[in-house]
Amino acid sequence: MPDLANAHRNTPFCPILELAGRIQARDRPVVDFSIGVPNFTPPQRVYDAAIAAVHADQCRYGPSRGEAGLIAAYLHYLTQLGLDRFGPENIAAGQGGKHLLYSLFQVLFEPGDTVVIPAPCWPTYFDIARLSGVAVRTPYCGLHQGYKLDPATLEAVLGGQVVALVLNNPSNPTGALYSMAELAALAEVLRRHDVWIISDDVYQRFVYTDDPCPHLLDIAPDLAPRIIKVDSISKLYGMPGWRAGLLAAPPEVADAVATLNSNSISNMPPVVAAAAAEALCGDQGFSQRMTSGYRARRDILLTAFDSAPQIRCARPGGAFYLFPDISRVFGSMHGGKMISTDQDLCNLLLEEYGVAAVPGRHFGAPDNIRLSYAIDADQVRQGARQILRCLAELEETPGKRQSSQPLPTAQTPVMEVVS
Ligand SMILES: Cc1ncc(COP(=O)(O)O)c(C=O)c1O
Repeated sequence: MPDLANAHRNTPFCPILELAGRIQARDRPVVDFSIGVPNFTPPQRVYDAAIAAVHADQCRYGPSRGEAGLIAAYLHYLTQLGLDRFGPENIAAGQGGKHLLYSLFQVLFEPGDTVVIPAPCWPTYFDIARLSGVAVRTPYCGLHQGYKLDPATLEAVLGGQVVALVLNNPSNPTGALYSMAELAALAEVLRRHDVWIISDDVYQRFVYTDDPCPHLLDIAPDLAPRIIKVDSISKLYGMPGWRAGLLAAPPEVADAVATLNSNSISNMPPVVAAAAAEALCGDQGFSQRMTSGYRARRDILLTAFDSAPQIRCARPGGAFYLFPDISRVFGSMHGGKMISTDQDLCNLLLEEYGVAAVPGRHFGAPDNIRLSYAIDADQVRQGARQILRCLAELEETPGKRQSSQPLPTAQTPVMEVVS
């Protein structure tokens, strides 16, 4: 029998979607900290817009760049953020942020190019790179540096075949939020290297500071000809299943993505585009209110874990994830079994304590687990109690194994992944 293409033979199924499927299939109740799905739905007017589009029989092919109404709504959204430099020629729509990121890897990179993706990071970046034949250079930015890339490390990893940097602010899985000053310092380095900068902004609204999320486009407008801003309706408006995303980029990049759309998905379905446009316009309060709810849930977890010596957390500045370092439990025993890895701890939490978490290894950080706290506050409290109970029931053993990561050193470890 003929074989699959090389790139597709060994690419794993998206680990988070795989875990989410397993959890949904369980018949026992679980506190589900696994998948990053916002726990709110958009207001009625968004559904009404979609229904109106159905009644208006908007079921033909649409424009490959995106419906005019959607592009106008996104430009309005960008203007509200203070980004008024863009016009329709800078915009392209796609079926979610994931699809747009995939498209960008197709239109920007040649097989053999290298892209810098700081870890811990969203696992899909690695898989999209693999599918695109692109090598990845991954500086590991650990707990001691707040899980953030610093300018010296960036300088050290740029050069050679590197053609792009992917930056996700605030971050999945760590919730790390770069400040203005930190972004300005990275911009200083980026000025010296002619690379694309893909800014994954799908959590941009969820920041726990009084000021809006800092952005390179504000701080370093001179870099705009190399910056591609990726946004998504999924997290912003609690609409992940609608599959709608948008990007703002130099016109030649937006054109290339629209052309790829024309040869792949053809267009975002007009009914989805109508709902997404409605979400982006008008009162944003429903989405903004979620941020204070998420901050309260973050604080429930941080306060609970303060009392657990086995857990070390960096305080998330945004998104809705906590990424505890749990390496101090490695080597402990539970019911005669040793907990040696992040996966062991996640299995134990799920099977014995009814709590679903994602092993940090999927994000390039096997000393951690990821908790998505975009769930009801009561569930967050219950989940925290269960995790603490689990930790209290672990038995220490002499000569316990410690962290699987190198200890903090002056130099950040860098992993090269060649597709
Ligand atoms: C960092 C990051 N980027 C992009 C996405 C893509 O989201 P979507 O494809 O639903 O727009 C996700 C989803 O979890 C994410 O966490």
